[in-house]
Amino acid sequence: MNILIRLCEPNEIQILRDLACKTYDESFRALNTPETMDAYLQEAFDLEKVRAELANPHSWFYFLFTDDMLAGYIKINQTPAQTDINDEQSLELERIYVKRAFKRRGFGKLLIEHAEKIAKSMGKQYVWLGVWEKNSAAIVFYKEMGYEVFDRHTFRMGEELQSDLVMKKILKP
Ligand SMILES: CC(C)(COP(=O)(O)OP(=O)(O)OC[C@H]1O[C@@H](n2cnc3c(N)ncnc32)[C@H](O)[C@@H]1OP(=O)(O)O)[C@@H](O)C(=O)NCCC(=O)NCCS
Repeated sequence: MNILIRLCEPNEIQILRDLACKTYDESFRALNTPETMDAYLQEAFDLEKVRAELANPHSWFYFLFTDDMLAGYIKINQTPAQTDINDEQSLELERIYVKRAFKRRGFGKLLIEHAEKIAKSMGKQYVWLGVWEKNSAAIVFYKEMGYEVFDRHTFRMGEELQSDLVMKKILKP
């Protein structure tokens, strides 16, 4: 099996948007009302919004390919692009998504390790992330990867306010 993790290029905007929308939809549609879901997808994955995120010099998207098939992605942010916290010593893992068909094959682990490797290379002390309190599978995954809950924050999903756990992992030098 051949695995490649690489930066998403500006000319791959449509591929990124489609992947982000598909993986979000397949992860959370069953747990939300159709109205909430549709409003969020429209707002969060608006092409111009994603284009601006991709062009932000403080954020990076990485794709994971397995045997040339796109299986997942991450989005990482340093200050001042972080959605919260905004501590110079930290890197935020804002998004980590693996397509349903590729789950539980170790790709999430490879992606999160990739984010940690980048954080270390930038001299950051920790990686943090927010996860919906009802996303128990992701919480188990993050705990397995060494992350611990240290805070909570509120996240707007369409018109609904949802509660996120904020988790972090201190990086070993
Ligand atoms: C969370 C996610 C990124 C994990 O990626 P993945 O490739 O499926 O996970 P991995 O195969 O790397 O799992 C590594 C370990 O984490 C744990 N784990 C992962 N998914 C799990 C689950 N659904 N239930 C319990 N443990 C899980 C297991 O210990 C697993 O090791 P094992 O398979 O040898 O038992 C992926 O499931 C996903 O995209 N979920 C939907 C989107 C999402 O919720 N993203 C996070 C938003 S905050």
